[in-house]
Amino acid sequence: MAASARLLHWRAWPERWRAASAAVLCRADFQRWAARFPLTRAIARRRALALFDLCAGFVYSQVLFACAEAGLLERLAPGPRELGALARDLEVDRDGLLTLLRAAQSLGLVRWDAGTGHVSLAGRGAEILGNPGLLPMIRHHALLYADLAQPLALLRARRAPTQLQAFWAYAGSAEPRALGAQGIGPYSELMTVSQGLVAAQVCEAYPFGRHRVLMDLGGGEGAFAAAVAQRFPGLEVWCVDLPAVARRAAQRLGALAPRARALARDITGEPLPAGADAITLLRVLHDHDDAAVERLLRGAHAALSPGGTLVIAEPMAARGRDLRVAHAYFGMYLLAMGSGRPRSPAEIAGLLRRAGFVAVTQRRTSLPLLVRIVTARKPATRRGPPGASRLQM
Ligand SMILES: C[S@@+](CC[C@H](N)C(=O)[O-])C[C@H]1O[C@@H](n2cnc3c(N)ncnc32)[C@H](O)[C@@H]1O
Repeated sequence: MAASARLLHWRAWPERWRAASAAVLCRADFQRWAARFPLTRAIARRRALALFDLCAGFVYSQVLFACAEAGLLERLAPGPRELGALARDLEVDRDGLLTLLRAAQSLGLVRWDAGTGHVSLAGRGAEILGNPGLLPMIRHHALLYADLAQPLALLRARRAPTQLQAFWAYAGSAEPRALGAQGIGPYSELMTVSQGLVAAQVCEAYPFGRHRVLMDLGGGEGAFAAAVAQRFPGLEVWCVDLPAVARRAAQRLGALAPRARALARDITGEPLPAGADAITLLRVLHDHDDAAVERLLRGAHAALSPGGTLVIAEPMAARGRDLRVAHAYFGMYLLAMGSGRPRSPAEIAGLLRRAGFVAVTQRRTSLPLLVRIVTARKPATRRGPPGASRLQM
């Protein structure tokens, strides 16, 4: 056998192995045997439960959604409540509430004590309350569930209008600059309440104190700009977003003026103001298709001072269990939203290099599930940034 044929032969082994094990796993008699055999019993049970969780995931999510919609967790925050009083508050009968409570208890959200008749918060419910952005996120999932009700239809009719696309009004908009206060209000509020955790991760992972001017692109209502300006008192911060969003940011950042300011730009279509030696893109790239991301990165490169740093922070498609967050959750979410896709750090690095950035580096965060960070530098040259406009207020 020729050497190349031998190589092909060996390369085919993992695929053959996967096909052979799939053929065994789908045999009902093997599954029954594995569930009984002492050495495989525990594995078989774990796998059966994982499979059940996969089938039941939507129902679990609806239990969580019902708790969020009823404000159940907030009602339990001050302390345990008596079942009857809770049922009256929620306007459901005791039996209905008990069904929800038992379901929520099995998912670790609440604790129902039949002895005392009291309901209290359980660990997972308390964790949700500890993240102020989570309950609004869970509530807005009603839009996602509606869009995913017919997933094949969604895949076939890509770019058809959806509820999520209406919510994220810039997604698929031919003229995002023209969006008014009503179009941008609901998503801007959601982004602001969920920004705290992201800001903390980004500020811990990257030393912004070494910079003079930071430009936050797609910075929303300025929650990150305000947080970073407060944390690094020597830093000047510009928050750039669509006009209607920038107006909201201007209000928030007014107290920090003139060190913090809001600027209105279409970041995927207009030249960006020059003069910043750091640029951030938080939860922005994954919203946009590749062509728009390429324009955005070229614009950021043009605007950034030579030697300056670009910081990208968002959930990324990396290895291991987090992949389900990127591909199963964000992949389907962004499909429903009608633009963008989750990208791996390597894909982002490729896009950055094509835009002219160097020294692309991944930084550690303590919650990679939520935020991964990639930084890159614009090479230091004596030439001015081509194509960047001067900062105009
Ligand atoms: C998912 S939100 C993230 C906001 C903020 N960075 C955060 O993490 O909370 C995306 C932001 O990008 C802005 N955006 C989307 N397309 C834009 C465009 N073409 N020009 C300027 N801003 C845009 C949106 O208005 C929104 O504020």
